Amino acid sequence: MRVEIVKDYGKLSRKAARFVAGLVEINPQVAMGLPTGSTPLGLYEELVDIHQEDDLDFSYVKIFDLDEYVGLSRDHSRSYYNYLQENFVKKVNLKSRNTYFLDGKAPDKKEECKKYEEKILKAGGLDLVILGIGRNGHIGFNEPAEELLARTHQVELASQTIEANARFFESEDEVPQEALTMGIGTILNADQVLLIANGNSKAPAIERLFSGKISTKFPASLLHTHPAVTVMIDQEAAERI
Ligand code: F6R
Repeated sequence: MRVEIVKDYGKLSRKAARFVAGLVEINPQVAMGLPTGSTPLGLYEELVDIHQEDDLDFSYVKIFDLDEYVGLSRDHSRSYYNYLQENFVKKVNLKSRNTYFLDGKAPDKKEECKKYEEKILKAGGLDLVILGIGRNGHIGFNEPAEELLARTHQVELASQTIEANARFFESEDEVPQEALTMGIGTILNADQVLLIANGNSKAPAIERLFSGKISTKFPASLLHTHPAVTVMIDQEAAERI
């Protein structure tokens, strides 16, 4: 696991964007798993800038969202579909046929998850997965548990996650209780992983990650088993390591 510590959120977003842009330049058909949330907003902004100013071409890039709330339709303002459309997809030249999203309203969730895994396989697997990290160590929506599921599946959100994500909704009651998420195996099968974190609220999680102990009760720790993980964090998130 390689760690890069930068001064602040602006620098983190730029560095992460340059990392992603470098991969797109080397392999214009790169397939990426993408997160939502607060952390990657700056990264998406920077990628849009690189696209506009330096003509970074996304027309052959494939993207797969990491997770989606169960019960929210795609046009719901808080769906992850909508987040990725508004913050990234519509602002670059991604082709809709190359964008893949979990459907939180799919009538048969098991089938939806199975189909998603098949789409990833058909794309030749993921070249890169970009991750944020929950304060409880979740990646995607793989929440701390005795056992974790390897493949894309439906999951009950941890109360800490519901609490943390209430900021995006009118009230905590509106936060969906369940989600669909890529599994830990889906993530670990990617050729490369880039995890980004900023702010002192993430410092305890980063401290735990760098303790080197591996446990399903801290899902991000499973990344220690992957040979090509880059962790980019700002000084605040790094303050305990
Ligand atoms: C979101 C996701 C989550 C977030 C994590 C951090 O698609 O997969 O694992 O990355 O909850 O969220 P923020 O960035 O809002 O702190």
